[in-house]
Amino acid sequence: MVLLGHHLNNPLLFFIILCSCFWNRSLYGAVSVEPSQGLLLDRGCSQYNNSNLGSFFENLNASLGEMRTQVRNQSTHFATAMKNKENNPVYALFLCRDYLPVADCLDCFAAAEVQIRNCSYGGASGARVTYDGCFLRYESNEFKEQNTDAGNRMKCGNHSAREATAFDSAMDQVLMNLQIAIPRIANFSAATETKVPNNNNNNNGTSSIIYAFAQCILTITPQGCLDCLKIGHQNLETCLPNSEGRAFDTGCFIRYSNISFFPHNYTMDITPYLKQGGSSKMAIIGGVSGGAALVLILLALFGWLRKSKRPKRVPRGDILGATELKGPVNYGYKDLKSATNNFSEENKIGEGGFGDVYKVINLIKIHFQV
Ligand SMILES: *[C@@H]1O[C@H](CO)[C@@H](O)[C@H](O)[C@H]1NC(C)=O
Ligand SMILES: *[C@@H]1O[C@H](CO)[C@@H](O)[C@H](O)[C@H]1NC(C)=O
Ligand SMILES: *[C@@H]1O[C@H](CO)[C@@H](O)[C@H](O)[C@H]1NC(C)=O
Ligand SMILES: *[C@@H]1O[C@H](CO)[C@@H](O)[C@H](O)[C@H]1NC(C)=O
Ligand SMILES: *[C@@H]1O[C@H](CO)[C@@H](O)[C@H](O)[C@H]1NC(C)=O
Ligand SMILES: *[C@@H]1O[C@H](CO)[C@@H](O)[C@H](O)[C@H]1NC(C)=O
Ligand SMILES: *[C@@H]1O[C@H](CO)[C@@H](O)[C@H](O)[C@H]1NC(C)=O
Ligand SMILES: *[C@@H]1O[C@H](CO)[C@@H](O)[C@H](O)[C@H]1NC(C)=O
Ligand SMILES: *[C@@H]1O[C@H](CO)[C@@H](O)[C@H](O)[C@H]1NC(C)=O
Repeated sequence: MVLLGHHLNNPLLFFIILCSCFWNRSLYGAVSVEPSQGLLLDRGCSQYNNSNLGSFFENLNASLGEMRTQVRNQSTHFATAMKNKENNPVYALFLCRDYLPVADCLDCFAAAEVQIRNCSYGGASGARVTYDGCFLRYESNEFKEQNTDAGNRMKCGNHSAREATAFDSAMDQVLMNLQIAIPRIANFSAATETKVPNNNNNNNGTSSIIYAFAQCILTITPQGCLDCLKIGHQNLETCLPNSEGRAFDTGCFIRYSNISFFPHNYTMDITPYLKQGGSSKMAIIGGVSGGAALVLILLALFGWLRKSKRPKRVPRGDILGATELKGPVNYGYKDLKSATNNFSEENKIGEGGFGDVYKVINLIKIHFQV
């Protein structure tokens, strides 16, 4: 402060300081926090500008307007729209947290739209905004089936949880359960409450509760949802033992905290969805077990397929180059998948190629933030 006061005498320096404050503000978005939208977690603009601004703004306005109407009139938490006047398409998508009332979703929509227009006033051909409360995105190409991309990231809390070890292992289970259950739930969304087992007998049984919520966009497949949640899970592991964290991506969102952030009556018991998978797998195996030879043949075939399907590694430079040039737009799931040694191949997080994949994604993150 002393330094700042001293340099106020110098108008040029003051100007530079002022500018850098605004620059930081708009980059990291320390905007006022409303309960409906919560923290601004992320904002990214494409570095490509649309060349036909007239029809671009018309199409952008019309697609945002259509989504707003869908949310309001149909009380829905998910909307997509596409407007293509003058063959200059704008595709758009909105996802609101299922536990929020529609009025809050509309508030969050409005806040996200302000952020989006910060990108689009120059005609950026794509942009995305993530709040605690919602996700808004538009592009000049279709993207609603894209479940993940290089912009995936997390925002961790700033305080370590009490009884960090117990919290950690409880969180691992919570994340694993959400990852299994969400793709099996019709609306791709659930909130859970989980008591952290209390090892310490002399603290009067005041154990923490983990509040967790996860959600996928409704235009991807269950497998796409699962793949996205796996990456989110991996990202959130790096937050632990923080008492809160959020992971966000193009196709899904995960948030956890030791403090409640959704209505208690929204809490869902997801155990039926965990069992369901186990039993259906057993049924398939049971049906086949009549012919043990067939099982062996299938296993051999499976092993051979896995080996031959493993793609060649794409040099990292390619991914980073593409990300730097294109920003959030035009970055296909396929590209990431092949560039990251096919992360969907591994069923368990933290095994084999996945740890390496995570490193690749991390590198992209750094560049994406610039
Ligand atoms: C689009 O909406 C913005 C903000 O509401 C407005 O300023 C602009 O004039 C609109 N553009 C067109 C072409 O409708
Ligand atoms: C949405 O609701 C408003 C007001 O209730 C109504 O005027 C409008 O026609 C509705 N739009 C659609 C597409 O149903
Ligand atoms: C960008 O957003 C901030 C609020 O986060 C606002 O104060 C600023 O005026 C916006 N800038 C432009 C150019 O729209
Ligand atoms: C796009 O427009 C913005 C705002 O006018 C400008 O700052 C940026 O340099 C433009 N990008 C390109 C690639 O022309
Ligand atoms: C943690 O602290 C940093 C710096 O003060 C802040 O930008 C960030 O938003 C905080 N994280 C959360 C989840 O509140
Ligand atoms: C949540 O965790 C923080 C950080 O350890 C702690 O200060 C706070 O008391 C906890 N809140 C609850 C409700 O457990
Ligand atoms: C989502 O689906 C679950 C299970 O089918 C249901 O309990 C819950 O109410 C649904 N939530 C919404 C917002 O529709
Ligand atoms: C447990 O409860 C007793 C009496 O209610 C209190 O004196 C004691 O400080 C508590 N212990 C802890 C660890 O909170
Ligand atoms: C939860 O309770 C609120 C009122 O407190 C109600 O409006 C809402 O519909 C309830 N939600 C569920 C999923 O039961």
